[in-house]
Amino acid sequence: MPSPSPKTVAIVGATGAVGIEFLRCLTARNFPVKELRLLASARSAGKEIAFKEQTLRVQELTEDSFKGVDIALFSAGSGIAKKFAPAAIKAGAAVVDNSSAFRMDADVPLVVPEINAGEIKRHKGIIANPNCSAIISITPLWPIHKINPIRHMNIATYQAASGAGAAAMEELVESTRASLENRAYEPKVLPHPYAFNLFSHNADIDPATGYNGEESKVIQETRKIFGDPDVRISITCVRVPVLRAHAVAVTFTCERPITEQEVRTIVAKAPGVRLVDDRARNYFPMPRDASGQDDILVGRIRQDIGDPSGHSISLFSAGDQLLKGAALNAVQIAEYL
Ligand code: A2P
Repeated sequence: MPSPSPKTVAIVGATGAVGIEFLRCLTARNFPVKELRLLASARSAGKEIAFKEQTLRVQELTEDSFKGVDIALFSAGSGIAKKFAPAAIKAGAAVVDNSSAFRMDADVPLVVPEINAGEIKRHKGIIANPNCSAIISITPLWPIHKINPIRHMNIATYQAASGAGAAAMEELVESTRASLENRAYEPKVLPHPYAFNLFSHNADIDPATGYNGEESKVIQETRKIFGDPDVRISITCVRVPVLRAHAVAVTFTCERPITEQEVRTIVAKAPGVRLVDDRARNYFPMPRDASGQDDILVGRIRQDIGDPSGHSISLFSAGDQLLKGAALNAVQIAEYL
């Protein structure tokens, strides 16, 4: 196959927690970059960031930022995506957006390449990167779903600070330091004290249903990515005092009976995941081990003894929210483009 022609790539939100990982993924995966344009707010204009052997200067994001850009990787929130994606598309770029702005639009593909890469080609300018908890929860489940359809998932998330951005990671470090030094610390980014604490996910709660926005995203996005509007999902999302890498506990129920050995065999061969399931050492997926890793770690695979029919399995996964949950998934999409 001929090697792809080098592309001009823009990163919107280049100074953010995900933005920095875009640069690392482009380097690590040897993405054919002709020119890299780093865009952020006026606050960051002029800041220097290293990319391979070059030092690049961050530019202020404006509607004129996209001339000559082939691929624009956005990770600056929904408001910025809605405001600037049209300018990027008008300039001829394909946008891979990490925010929730366009995910549920019918003509926007919502893609986890291991699951539905085929969707990418129907894009009309924007491809959406799914919610990080959705990616980490469902990438290991897809190869099982293909063989024995999953009818119900019961998910509990343990979500790191990184999902709320660089400022939230800093808040976790600073508030932990303050707590150890017996100093008061007023939360600025997250709504509750974070050090030595955990709390229900900070996304807005729907007063009518009691579900928060993060939970609703996982439910809706999973159905769209699986192309299966009937999959039922029960979910509780929680923010835990971990810097990066989310963990999820999942119990799922299949159409037909399924054994833990079948699941272990499927997971061991699945792309994008790695089996970490050592009962002898009580060693299972941990955010510390998942941090900086491309693969989602999967383990604690066991028959759900709460379902004597043999249709249900429980497992525990951990995945780097900044990589597979965000930057890596977006760069994989860009590779297909
Ligand atoms: P900046 O660092 O200049 O504020 P995170 O998800 O880690 O919070 O990062 C958010 C990213 O979005 C940062 O790169 C941030 O840039 C960028 N951003 C925030 N507001 C704007 C804006 N008004 N215009 C362009 N980029 C923005």
